[in-house]
Amino acid sequence: MLHLAVFASGRGSNLRAIDQAITDGRLDARVVAVISNRAASGALDFAREHGIPALSLSEIAAEAEDSWLQEQLAKCGCDFISLAGYMKLLPAGVVSAYRHRITNIHPALLPSFGGKGMFGRHVHEAVLASGAKVSGATVHLVDEEYDRGPIVMQRCVPIADDDTAERLAARVLEIEHRIYPESLQLFADGRVTVRDNKTSIRS
Ligand code: GRF
Repeated sequence: MLHLAVFASGRGSNLRAIDQAITDGRLDARVVAVISNRAASGALDFAREHGIPALSLSEIAAEAEDSWLQEQLAKCGCDFISLAGYMKLLPAGVVSAYRHRITNIHPALLPSFGGKGMFGRHVHEAVLASGAKVSGATVHLVDEEYDRGPIVMQRCVPIADDDTAERLAARVLEIEHRIYPESLQLFADGRVTVRDNKTSIRS
């Protein structure tokens, strides 16, 4: 079973999808903490309503962040981290302590349309401006850069000629809610290995 810390700065719909998958028995995990860099977030509200430890980084000085986070993660028994709309780079010490045990979900097909500044509607506007015929969602392992680690799972959605960023975002979000719990279950089952910066999934 994964003891998950979910890092989420925003509304928290992926956190809810993960929680729902656990309730339905599709994901063998327990959410041991929800952590946000913003004091007011839907994800923290959800955690509080569900008796999950809710931690905010907003009062922690930048230089203390790395050690504070590592201490909190150890305290809550976290053995796996999932970023779900977390708007900040994880400190290097956390990345290295949880190497290959941190995932992120991105609302496009990486390695395109990722990196610093590529979040929310910026991603979908860039995808539409590119003229691409498909978009999708990517779950990947996290390293020291935004949106860069080895890809774990991707799924496509079609793009219509008259699509808007809002409609595309909604279509992609639906896929995100499916592939994030599915990807995490691969880790819970010990099926993911990483070599040469690529993952392979044991069947
Ligand atoms: C999602 O689109 C995710 O791909 C991106 O941030 C958004 C978070 O949405 N990284 P939510 O807070 O899970 O609803």
